[in-house]
Amino acid sequence: DSTARAQIGVTGLAVMGSNIARNFARHGHTVAVHNRSRAKTDALIADHGHEGDFLPAETTAEFVASLEVPRRVLVMVQAGPATDAVIADLADHMEPGDIIIDGGNSLYTDTIRREAEIRARGLHFVGAGISGGEEGALNGPSIMPGGPAESYEHLGPLLESISAQVDGEPCCTHIGPDGSGHFVKMVHNGIEYADMQLIGEAFDLMRTALDMPVAEIADVFRQWNTGDLESYLVEITAEVLSQVDAHTGKPLVDVIVDSAGQKGTGRWTVKSALDLGVPTTGIAEAVFARALSSATAQRERSRGLGSGQLAAAPTDKVEFVDAINQALYASKVVAYAQGFDQILAGSQEYDWNVKPGDLATIWRGGCIIRATFLDRIREAYAADPQLPSLLLAPYFREAVENAVDAWRRVVSTATLMGIPVPAFASSLSYYDALRAERLPAALTQGLRDYFGAHTYKRVDAEGSFHTLWSGDR
Ligand code: ATR
Repeated sequence: DSTARAQIGVTGLAVMGSNIARNFARHGHTVAVHNRSRAKTDALIADHGHEGDFLPAETTAEFVASLEVPRRVLVMVQAGPATDAVIADLADHMEPGDIIIDGGNSLYTDTIRREAEIRARGLHFVGAGISGGEEGALNGPSIMPGGPAESYEHLGPLLESISAQVDGEPCCTHIGPDGSGHFVKMVHNGIEYADMQLIGEAFDLMRTALDMPVAEIADVFRQWNTGDLESYLVEITAEVLSQVDAHTGKPLVDVIVDSAGQKGTGRWTVKSALDLGVPTTGIAEAVFARALSSATAQRERSRGLGSGQLAAAPTDKVEFVDAINQALYASKVVAYAQGFDQILAGSQEYDWNVKPGDLATIWRGGCIIRATFLDRIREAYAADPQLPSLLLAPYFREAVENAVDAWRRVVSTATLMGIPVPAFASSLSYYDALRAERLPAALTQGLRDYFGAHTYKRVDAEGSFHTLWSGDR
């Protein structure tokens, strides 16, 4: 069929979908485009039809018929029931060997279910995490495709051609079977939450503890972006803090309501961490901090709660700003170490064989958490694929050990001044717990044995033990 000439189809032409379609077209691929309602398709062709070879389709049948075999369709519709409906419709029009790719922010357990359903019909299903927002979708996202390895043979080159590239390497690689792509994308978003919370705490310390003007804080972030903290989020923090509100002449950040929203991927990450038993405390604190910020009625009523005696501000501003930098870096290492632990735990739970070094590689460009730092993570896993924690990689170990004095000073100063630093503080506690010789979990076991005869193990003998406590009757 001479009309079947599109290399890829994109259905769902809201901003992400149409930008990805344009990205394919701009790279010389013929792209079939489709949307439930015709208006978005027409708008795409009218506004951007000149950018490449688009084949607009009105119906699913027409859309599917315009694709080369094996057919590849990227679904970019709302996560949840809409995605299920579109997949079911496509599958009815496709043939064994064809590939359906879900590029939305689907929950990985949905992807596991869908992959099994689609595989049973002889089709391939690829759940692909796509990061980088609207801009990334258009100019080069980071792409995390899961699904069967053989479907990647037909799909990989196409996806790699539109992804971000760093040092000549595409920010796209096959992650593993079924839900693995969406799982790592979820944890990626969780890490993004932690990164943003840590940046927020650093900002708040400069603002509140040091009483620095917002414009000066913007300069500090700009400066930090030339060092170890160089990253997209630090870069745009400087931009956001530099923005002046046209109405009031104040820094824009001061007229924005201080209640952070969320679309759910951070919450999913934390739920999964609880299920897997992985202490992803940095991400959890970030999700909870957003929840607390949004509890406006409760905050309103709590404003008068006494602070007790507060300590004075640090006297050496330059020195304290540098300490905040170090605390931010060390806490960030902890957040990433925990995120990678969660990915490895998920990989083990679901038998995915995810390679952490690959993730560090494909997150170096295109995505929101892109950072120079990821090169160091990639090197760490290249040197030791069995690394028990990122904190034990020589580079990170040294960095954190060098930062730890400053980190303690920042957390204690914040505490003494009554400034909340949940992510800085819990990351430091995590670090101290990880390196501790003994933990009070021994007492927890004693208590559990006392009230519930749950037994305990001894340091000096094999087996399980129960004590006849004097409180026993
Ligand atoms: P945005 O918030 O940017 O609009 P979104 O809500 O994630 O993005 O996705 C919207 C896309 O999903 C649209 O292309 C929408 O199609 P319409 O333009 O016809 O509204 C598509 N979509 C949502 N529900 C759908 C469904 N049940 N079947 C097919 N497409 C659907």
